[in-house]
Amino acid sequence: MLLTFVVLMITIECGLCDNVSPKPGLKLFREDYKSVEETCLAVGFVRNSCKNTSTTKTNHRAVAFDVRLKDDKRNFARKARVVFETVDLNEGLGYNASIGIFTAPSGGIYVFDWTTIAYEGQHAYTSLVVNDQFKSWNFCQAGNSKTWLSCSKMTIVKLKQGDKVWIGVFGEPTNIFCQFTSFSGYKL
Ligand SMILES: *[C@@H]1O[C@H](CO)[C@@H](O)[C@H](O)[C@H]1NC(C)=O
Ligand SMILES: *[C@@H]1O[C@H](CO)[C@@H](O)[C@H](O)[C@H]1NC(C)=O
Repeated sequence: MLLTFVVLMITIECGLCDNVSPKPGLKLFREDYKSVEETCLAVGFVRNSCKNTSTTKTNHRAVAFDVRLKDDKRNFARKARVVFETVDLNEGLGYNASIGIFTAPSGGIYVFDWTTIAYEGQHAYTSLVVNDQFKSWNFCQAGNSKTWLSCSKMTIVKLKQGDKVWIGVFGEPTNIFCQFTSFSGYKL
């Protein structure tokens, strides 16, 4: 008797399935899935598929900065840190303008780029420094040229929370020209 009932139900179910066109079925499935996900989040039932969103949100908060020099920087020695005093953007507050250091608010992949203007006939040898290690080099040598050389470098690094990043000097003397020299970065 029960068996007959089950068979009957399956038949009806299958019959229903057959009568439903694939498109609305897919739509229902999407709506069902959405509501299960929403319910799951609403009641705080945590599974892998609905991982703690507050943590995820914190990790994906925008981190981006864009800063530039206020004054010329003359005769930098090797290992000197370039402090960009003018802050145009500092989302996530990773960049500290009084010391010129960006501290990663969270771990992840970060993109940095910086542009220096070397005085005519002079040099600007700068590097991205991560925790005191040179990571990427921007070799800007105007040599005997009569032009003001503009040099850019972009690089991508993997950082842990709290890692410190700045623009340092890897060759001396380095002379760079005011507001046309800038540094920016963001988390992917
Ligand atoms: C989600 O993460 C936040 C921040 O880490 C924590 O306070 C909260 O208790 C977590 N919620 C659940 C349901 O695990
Ligand atoms: C910037 O760094 C200095 C020196 O470590 C510190 O005293 C200051 O509080 C920092 N500023 C911000 C906004 O974190």
